[in-house]
Amino acid sequence: MRFPTPLSLALLARLASSQGTMPMMRFQCSQLVVERLDPLVNPGTAPSPHLHQIVGGNSFNISMDPLTHDLPTKSTCTSCTFSEDFSNYWTAVMYYRARNGSFTRVHQLPNEGLKGNGGITIYYIAPSNKKSAVTAFRPGFRMLVGDASRTVAGGPARKICHRCMPASGDNRNINCGAPDSPEFPKSFCAGGIRTIITFPTCWDGKNTDSPDHMSHVAYATGAGANDVGPTGSCPASHPVVIPQLMYEIIWDTTPFSKKELWPEDASQQPFVWSTGDTHGYSQHGDYVFGWKGDSLQKAMDARCNGDTCSVLELQSTDEAVKCTKATDVEEEVDGWLERLPGDRMLF
Ligand SMILES: *[C@@H]1O[C@H](CO)[C@@H](O)[C@H](O)[C@H]1NC(C)=O
Ligand SMILES: *[C@@H]1O[C@H](CO)[C@@H](O)[C@H](O)[C@H]1NC(C)=O
Repeated sequence: MRFPTPLSLALLARLASSQGTMPMMRFQCSQLVVERLDPLVNPGTAPSPHLHQIVGGNSFNISMDPLTHDLPTKSTCTSCTFSEDFSNYWTAVMYYRARNGSFTRVHQLPNEGLKGNGGITIYYIAPSNKKSAVTAFRPGFRMLVGDASRTVAGGPARKICHRCMPASGDNRNINCGAPDSPEFPKSFCAGGIRTIITFPTCWDGKNTDSPDHMSHVAYATGAGANDVGPTGSCPASHPVVIPQLMYEIIWDTTPFSKKELWPEDASQQPFVWSTGDTHGYSQHGDYVFGWKGDSLQKAMDARCNGDTCSVLELQSTDEAVKCTKATDVEEEVDGWLERLPGDRMLF
């Protein structure tokens, strides 16, 4: 199915779930910075092992101690259009590898119907039943999905997938259903490659983090667990329903859609993650919650949908794009590179 641009958000929301209308906040967060930092998995380490692209509040830093680093207080701007959202969101970065072995970064496009400078489209999805409770994240909350060293599909990366996008949108099965794949597509993609990263919707109700940044949250189980939005059942160990956080990234692979720019071996494709992964399995999403006060809870309770919300403050895309952060790690990440940042080995 194809939809004209800009696509109808109401239609998208209806399509997303077999359970009826799923209220989904959907907004663009432009690029804050692209650099080798990871304050969740490698706090205090600069540079971190591989390159990330980061969006959100400009208090993003080498370390973000949950006890002392209050994102809404320390940030002076956010690259997201909801101006009370100082959270940070980040993922691995896509590179193109030429036949001669050199690499160049694949840039991101703002998503269909949205404007901005690259970055990530962020979704917060509430249960469709207006009476169902949904508990917004607490200050200090953070989580990770995926595994930067993953070499096979599934496991902690089972809700991370890639789609070869047609020229004008394709919103079937947005939760890793067909035609998405955990691997990089093996053909030219007229609309670029879209990555989807879907976070768990069940929380243990106590811990804002855990040693692996994953075990304090869990995916829902049972009927509806594979729909978008918190519709399945939460396990007894993780009984609290949290908003479903989802990232969508459109990688503009179109400048490389030429036969002579692809590997001579037709079974191969030319894209790699900044981890060094040539297959696609190692993409991952990191989240550090940073909404001001109870703004996210209010937006969830109001079942806000789309990129405006009656109980939230907005800033213009122009303002959001202006919010960037100087790099702390000085190295070349653009142009033609002989090696991936961090000298990553290909795998
Ligand atoms: C980042 O951390 C350093 C060292 O702790 C601090 O000096 C600096 O102000 C921080 N930057 C931001 C934007 O918070
Ligand atoms: C490698 O190939 C790319 C793409 O064709 C080209 O732009 C770049 O200059 C080449 N690098 C070297 C070192 O030859």
